[in-house]
Amino acid sequence: MRCVYCMSEDMNFLPKRDVLTLEELDRLCTAFINRGVSRLRITGGEPLVRRGILSFFTSLSRHLESGLLRELTLTTNGSQLAAHAADLAALGVRRLNLSMDTLDAQKFRTITRWGDLSQVMRGVDAAQTAGIALKINMVVLKGVNDAEIPAMLEWAHGREMDLTLIEVMPLGSIEAERVDQFLPLTIVEQQLSQRYTLQPIDYKTGGPARYLRVAETGGRLGLITPHTHNFCEGCNRVRVTCTGTLYMCLGQEDAADLRAPLRASQSDDLLNETIEAAIARKPKGHDFIVDRKGAKPAVTRHMSVTGG
Ligand code: GTP
Ligand code: 5AD
Repeated sequence: MRCVYCMSEDMNFLPKRDVLTLEELDRLCTAFINRGVSRLRITGGEPLVRRGILSFFTSLSRHLESGLLRELTLTTNGSQLAAHAADLAALGVRRLNLSMDTLDAQKFRTITRWGDLSQVMRGVDAAQTAGIALKINMVVLKGVNDAEIPAMLEWAHGREMDLTLIEVMPLGSIEAERVDQFLPLTIVEQQLSQRYTLQPIDYKTGGPARYLRVAETGGRLGLITPHTHNFCEGCNRVRVTCTGTLYMCLGQEDAADLRAPLRASQSDDLLNETIEAAIARKPKGHDFIVDRKGAKPAVTRHMSVTGG
């Protein structure tokens, strides 16, 4: 899928040689885990389109068994989930995030450029049957899906899934203006509180969401608010692209190339040094601003480069 707010229509596939092999990705993940990373998220779009993805998860699951890794999870658009959910559960995936912005099949097709909602729903069924806990990630787009938030909440909570709402971030140029899409979640929260009893709760995952309990449904509602309620102070996340570029912040350009040290030597010495030097310069925060038409995006890369 090519969600319209996530990548532009005009895109090119990378040359194969630029993309890390599964063996290189495993070595990279292992280097991070050996340096103290305890939560690993394999992200998309749909990471499950990658050929051999289960062998990658199988290999990574050794770190769950050794106890070095506390969590191995993924962000998926659900399109390939039906085929893989049972295997992922067997390998130790306990919960996953599903990117889904609407329950309307026609709108889903428009947002994703061609996605089939019924295929995603089969993925939801399969994941739940396999005993994986699901969180629905919904990017709130003004005038597109904001009217659907209560329906999404009732659906997610009715199926015992968390729902997290996300403020749209200015990553890369797209066909639309970000300022036209952006709806502050402070407004959404206010509107929801007229209909539901929202109670702050002390629930934390590795991510930036602030969680509320919806008394009427009993379910959890997460809010990811880079614009209206900054969470940079508590962020310890870093992201690696499929080409081995390490980004210390979603909303900054600063990056470190890990592919060169990975390919330069079978020893991990240079790789480890490069990782440590990069982590030490993790920025204090992002530069996201969405305040006017024609504004340049804070960073030129699209979210599709790093996943969530
Ligand atoms: P080959 O038949 O050997 O080329 O493999 P494949 O293309 O079936 O598998 P691969 O794991 O390379 O990719 C799986 C799918 O991901 C492909 O069908 C592509 O449509 C898609 N894809 C998404 N982004 C990219 C990209 O940047 N590069 C490549 N190569 N594929 C991408
Ligand atoms: N702003 C906020 N979230 C985004 N995502 C993709 N692009 C953006 C953006 N510009 C979300 C997807 C998915 C996750 C990988 O990132 O909807 O949930």
